[in-house]
Amino acid sequence: MKMQNPKRICLLPGDGIGPEVLQPAVEVLEHVAASAGLAIQTTVAKVGGDALDHFGTPLPEETIQACRTSDAVLLGAVGGPKWDRYALHLRPEKGLLGIRKDLALYANIRPVRQIAALVDRSTLRREVVEGVDLVVVRELTGGLYYGQPRGVSGDPGEEVALNTMVYSRGEIERIARTAFDLARKRRGKVVSVDKANVLEVSVLWRKVVAAIHEDYREVTLEHQYVDNCAMQLVLNPRQFDVILTENTFGDILSDIGGVLTGSIGTLPSASTGAGPALYEPIHGSAPDIAGKGIANPVGAIVCVAMMFELSFGRPDLAGKITQAVDGVLADGYRTKDLCRQGDRAVNTVEFSDLVMRRLA
Ligand code: IPM
Ligand code: MG
Repeated sequence: MKMQNPKRICLLPGDGIGPEVLQPAVEVLEHVAASAGLAIQTTVAKVGGDALDHFGTPLPEETIQACRTSDAVLLGAVGGPKWDRYALHLRPEKGLLGIRKDLALYANIRPVRQIAALVDRSTLRREVVEGVDLVVVRELTGGLYYGQPRGVSGDPGEEVALNTMVYSRGEIERIARTAFDLARKRRGKVVSVDKANVLEVSVLWRKVVAAIHEDYREVTLEHQYVDNCAMQLVLNPRQFDVILTENTFGDILSDIGGVLTGSIGTLPSASTGAGPALYEPIHGSAPDIAGKGIANPVGAIVCVAMMFELSFGRPDLAGKITQAVDGVLADGYRTKDLCRQGDRAVNTVEFSDLVMRRLA
């Protein structure tokens, strides 16, 4: 039998609850890979505040190298109050933004799937959120986050600050294709989100998305202004299949996913480009609960499911993982963020053990 090269996975635990949720995710990764006869090899590197404390930079060269030479990257979270007073270029977040840019991870895929057992955990009514299954496709390497010029000028007392929202046709085309390709495999509907009643960037965005749509006639395309889309997401979220939008709008809109599902702790994301993809839970470093062992590991565990599907072409293994997670939740087990009276309260490790037992 031909031996396959092991899949190399770079682990970036990062800050706050990052390491706590990454550990169970890695256990799941190793177990599922082993039972499928898939060889994997993991390396650990530092990013964010963790890297700042050790190397004085949120993104050391060796971390970038480790990411570049891997087949996939799994990240916990970056950031925390400890580094909040650092200048922007020395903030933990800069580590993540640097990886996104260096690996050209222009497509951020953020699935928002309402898990049946959690339908009453949303602040929104059951009849609104039940069955929600949408994906935000967020452009990740352009727009305000990276646009030049940027900076602060002027004397103290008279400062002027500047950021630039900029997109080229090519950048819009490739992310539009990502969204339409995905919609083809789903329910065939794309809502493109912009602010074309005000911004030139959005006028170009709308024009280019409409042009790419010509190649995807079987997919329905609708345009929404971003303010209206925010309202539609809480008013009638089931209307959405794929939401296509630029960097900043996608950042803001995708957090609403945490309201629809009941906890941001359950949401995964994948950032993809030409090279290795990066997987990270959406929830962030949650400094208020870090170190307590109570974080919800679901987001990180389903990141591993996404990795099997998107990076390793194994949707079957992805399905096994999501089924195991759904099963544990259906049995009534909850971490603190989702726990109510009558539930079976568990901590991070206990929840993960239950998932592992279902996978075994
Ligand atoms: C996200 C986060 C990041 C972003 C931060 C941590 C830089 O909010 O992934 O949504 O703004 O992109
Ligand atoms: Mg965000």
